[in-house]
Amino acid sequence: MTGEASARSPAQLPLLARFPRLAARTPVVPLAAGPSPVARLGRLSESLGGPDVWLKNDGLYGTIYGGNKPRKLEFVLADALRRKSKTVLTTGAIGTNHGLATALYGAQAGLHVGLLLTYEEPGPDTGRQLLRMAAAGADIYYTRNHALTAAAAPYFIARYWLRDRRRPYILGPGGSSSMGALGFVNAGFELAAQVAAGELPAPRSIVVPVGTGATVAGLLAGLRLAGLDSEVIGVAVTRAPTAWPVAVKRLARNVTKLVAGRAGDRKLARVGLDGLRISSDWLGPGYARPSRRSAQALAMAADLENLELDAVYTAKTMSAVIGLAGQGVLEGPVLYWHTHNAIRMPEPDPAVASRLPSGLRRVGKIRTRV
Ligand SMILES: Cc1ncc(COP(=O)(O)O)c(C=O)c1O
Repeated sequence: MTGEASARSPAQLPLLARFPRLAARTPVVPLAAGPSPVARLGRLSESLGGPDVWLKNDGLYGTIYGGNKPRKLEFVLADALRRKSKTVLTTGAIGTNHGLATALYGAQAGLHVGLLLTYEEPGPDTGRQLLRMAAAGADIYYTRNHALTAAAAPYFIARYWLRDRRRPYILGPGGSSSMGALGFVNAGFELAAQVAAGELPAPRSIVVPVGTGATVAGLLAGLRLAGLDSEVIGVAVTRAPTAWPVAVKRLARNVTKLVAGRAGDRKLARVGLDGLRISSDWLGPGYARPSRRSAQALAMAADLENLELDAVYTAKTMSAVIGLAGQGVLEGPVLYWHTHNAIRMPEPDPAVASRLPSGLRRVGKIRTRV
């Protein structure tokens, strides 16, 4: 999918339309033209011979880069601007989708972006990701491991604080703050509106990946606040504590409190958050390491639905849909929530590799895809 759509107005975000008092207190920087599309995955459903499977394609949520990150950044970047920060600082692995989304949309919002990354074994797209972060004008630093990143973080923050003479906006891994989760509360309301408009049936189960947690936590809160009782099945793609049920529930509760406080309605804070199941059965050998089942899911989605999955998040999520449907334990209609970018981006200019730290220039050398 190509084309650079222009973003809608803040009043068109369903969460803000639903709670005017929250809207008055919550600035947003809209980053998408409208709701992400939904569609029935007919051939996949038929081949599974079980429940009907639907797609919510957040891959197309965004103007220049899609996926779950723009949803978080709509609220996060506005919060940074409200606090009059000049710089947003964040972190992730060297191939981070979150870092790339922050670099692209942060620059568009007039914010400087600093990335403190951690080295990991490069995947097929890591070089492109890094070049795009550099091309967007982000400052890129990296260390060899998580302990070194944690040790370097205070110096990294201090550097920008001194330079800007004001506090930089510090955004945790994956943009998974309560503010980031608010983007997925909005997504819950968006889905409820699509169900009400008859675009899809109310899903009995929604299957979504869990990494740093704000996607599933915000979605759970948003669905319940919007009156949908679909079971939410979180597919853990990492063993990190951010994907543990206790952390996800805490974030879901925190974001409902945020909504309640800003909407001026205290009973919203007590909305039931039942019906969440997080499973690590589909993780395979670990984060970013494909399993036999995730490789099969990737091939099946491409063959049957022309749907491009990534190996880290969406292939494992789809493997859960296929596996649970095969076991006959998935109640339909099922909604597979696609979180990886599906907006075509131009090939990055290899010359920007010179802006990468010297130790990463080798990773930034990309081969043209055939
Ligand atoms: C493509 C994609 N899907 C899913 C996730 C997981 O979302 P979250 O970190 O909010 O749990 C991420 C990021 O971590 C991602 O980049």
